Amino acid sequence: MRHLIDPLDFTKDETEELLALAEDIRSNPEKYHDKCRRKKIATLFYEPSTRTRLSFEAAMINLGGSVIGFSSANSSSAAKGESIADTIRVISKFADITAIRHPKEGAPMRASMFSEIPVINAGDGGHQHPTQTLADLSTIKRRKGSLENLTIGLCGDLKFGRTVHSLIKSISRWSGNSFVLISPDELRVPDYIINEVLKPKNIKFEETSSLEYALPKLDILYMTRVQRERFFNEEDYVRLKDSYILTKEKMQLAKDDMAVLHPLPRVNEIDTHVDSDKRAAYFEQVENGMYVREALILKLLNLA
Ligand code: CP
Repeated sequence: MRHLIDPLDFTKDETEELLALAEDIRSNPEKYHDKCRRKKIATLFYEPSTRTRLSFEAAMINLGGSVIGFSSANSSSAAKGESIADTIRVISKFADITAIRHPKEGAPMRASMFSEIPVINAGDGGHQHPTQTLADLSTIKRRKGSLENLTIGLCGDLKFGRTVHSLIKSISRWSGNSFVLISPDELRVPDYIINEVLKPKNIKFEETSSLEYALPKLDILYMTRVQRERFFNEEDYVRLKDSYILTKEKMQLAKDDMAVLHPLPRVNEIDTHVDSDKRAAYFEQVENGMYVREALILKLLNLA
């Protein structure tokens, strides 16, 4: 039985197959509308979510299956002290597959060790978010036609932003990509990403605090929210939260075919006036997320 805990749990070839399957589902939804009949997904969300939880639920419904679950730790027996190991043993009796979001890094991995059903990491603390990465890769491929030879700028909270960590790990497997890491010093990407992912593969990267400096070079700009929920004190959050705001004026520095991605939710790091720019890809990224999650469910249930 397979799980998706880390973006590297699927090889590069398997990831490309998933993206291709997602495209086939998008083009031929009727071929798939009954594939998960009588199957259930359990969405166990110990942290808030709009896109990830609801897109997993929409994905399963589109495939003819059903949904059970909870949307906050307080409405589950975690509030009474139940461990994730016990919870997953119980859920394994009710559901065929589960997506888990948890504030603790490694919680979905721990659940997978006790699970009788495939476990999908729907975001664990500031660590990884592999299904957001599938949505990101799908969006980049649809916009740029390839996942290779791209200059990718990642901007904002690169320390706590789990989507950033997962995307760098995954897209580093395609050749010719380089990264511009744009953040305040206190929100730099964790050392393990540099020392265990980028440097061993001789991947070109540079770090800067200037979005204006980076913009003209980029094929992809991946904006992120400063992750208030991961800060130890409100004072630091308030000081750093407006470090980067992408505006129409700044977009004039960028290439005509650059794509702007954001995992969402945004606070104010992309001015809403940018939404009508043809380079803004963040709402189509949300839609792409649903199709890749349909593909993932089918793969993990051995139905495709
Ligand atoms: N991108 C993302 O994970 O969004 P949600 O927190 O709304 O699920």
